[in-house]
Amino acid sequence: MDAARGKTLDVGAVGLKQSQIPSHAAGAFDPRVLFPSASNPLEIEIGSGKGTFLVQQAARQPGTNFLGIEWTAEFWRYAADRVRRRELANVRLLQIDASEFFRFWLPSGIASVIHLYFSDPWPKTRHHKRRVIQDETLAHFHRVLSSAGELRIVTDHVELWAWCEDHAARNAHLFSVTPFVAPDSAGVGEVVGTNFERKFAREGRPFMAMTLVKQGQSAAREPVQSCGQSAGRSTGRSAPAPRGPSSP
Ligand SMILES: C[S@@+](CC[C@H](N)C(=O)[O-])C[C@H]1O[C@@H](n2cnc3c(N)ncnc32)[C@H](O)[C@@H]1O
Repeated sequence: MDAARGKTLDVGAVGLKQSQIPSHAAGAFDPRVLFPSASNPLEIEIGSGKGTFLVQQAARQPGTNFLGIEWTAEFWRYAADRVRRRELANVRLLQIDASEFFRFWLPSGIASVIHLYFSDPWPKTRHHKRRVIQDETLAHFHRVLSSAGELRIVTDHVELWAWCEDHAARNAHLFSVTPFVAPDSAGVGEVVGTNFERKFAREGRPFMAMTLVKQGQSAAREPVQSCGQSAGRSTGRSAPAPRGPSSP
């Protein structure tokens, strides 16, 4: 696997590793502080891969901040270098496990959209627990989204699609299912226009897509300062004030 094909990549100020954000033991971390215009709306992409959706859509939506989360170092580096070269001030790439980031770091009500495109299907039953969509992550997506916020999902994988539909049905108290609307960066005939979509389209695979719209109040627990407690334990306190990243 060599996404860079021998090129030297520079993540600049765009790419951050987990070690550059505060430990979750210190409480919630608000990623809006990573952007020059921190008060702009925030959208989060999980599993950004080479960053194609981010560079296409962020250029069309300069008044929105986009946080890409990618745990594979090679793709994270590739995507961050791409964003840096395009001088997109409204994009940051964080290398971390997205499920853990939602569970342990992110405060409530901060994101208007969560994008999940061509998520790894983990087809073996014993690996299903590694899928991003789980009852627990849905509860945290619901918590982190602002009122009427959206979780947008696209996949080519029939069995993962059934898994998503089952989870959406089980969590109908949290989300209503609505049709997926292609972003304006999608090309003609594309659903969203990511690298994997383009690769799978050449193979003639069908795509399935849905948008889950947040309903009602959140029940998931806010990450809290640990002080000897495990993160995620509820104390009824609100999220701490946003803190900035640590030095590299
Ligand atoms: C199949 S690729 C799709 C990439 C891109 N969204 C696209 O459509 O071209 C899935 C990506 O999600 C990343 N990924 C999977 N699970 C993740 C997780 N829990 N946290 C962060 N990244 C994850 C993988 O490393 C991989 O780059």
